[in-house]
Amino acid sequence: MKRAAAAAAAELATDGMVVGLGSGTTALELIRALGRRRHSGLQITAVASSVASADLARSLGIPLVELTGPLDLAIDGADAVDRRNFDAIKGLGGALTREHIVAASAARFVLIVDERKMYDTMSAAFEQVPVPIAVVPFGWQTTRDRLRNYGSPELRIGDDGEPYTTDDGNYILDLHTPTVVSAADLARKLKVLTGVVDHGLFCGLATDVVIGTADGVEKISTSSC
Ligand code: A5P
Repeated sequence: MKRAAAAAAAELATDGMVVGLGSGTTALELIRALGRRRHSGLQITAVASSVASADLARSLGIPLVELTGPLDLAIDGADAVDRRNFDAIKGLGGALTREHIVAASAARFVLIVDERKMYDTMSAAFEQVPVPIAVVPFGWQTTRDRLRNYGSPELRIGDDGEPYTTDDGNYILDLHTPTVVSAADLARKLKVLTGVVDHGLFCGLATDVVIGTADGVEKISTSSC
């Protein structure tokens, strides 16, 4: 389902575009699909939102550029998407800060997900999926304590048993916040907290969602974001 959604979204890239590449397993499928299209002659340049995505793109011959201005298109995975308005939770892969910058720079921002990540409301998503929050390592415990006003923050631990560290050298606190109703309101409150670098609430950014389902691919778009 992920691969089908990624392949369908890759068809949105056209010659001359500067494309933002997301991170995570679905985004890696997208990069593979764009690599195949490039092999068939597609001429694009790309901005990668993580070291892993950059490494794969480079290995497939997709030319990478620095992010210095607007992107024509960005495509990325997500952990949960509100079907009504495409608000999303992202960052379980840890790349949320760069992903947020890439998404905010894109004229068109497309989420690629399998159908299990679609929710009827954001409240329903909050019951299942924590909100990843990138924080400065210095004094992270004090940032965690401030976050307790909004739920239960938990320091993410890596495979090595140490705090998980992002490509930008930040820690991640996963905020379990099942009682929150408004994602946009929570996003505003998190953004101004001392010690917080960025959060995984992507509100009002996605223009399209491409959903891999058991029966094929569903594409939905909005102009209301
Ligand atoms: C990376 O930081 C994340 O935002 C991913 O885009 C998200 O977690 C989806 O990942 P998968 O495609 O691996 O499920």
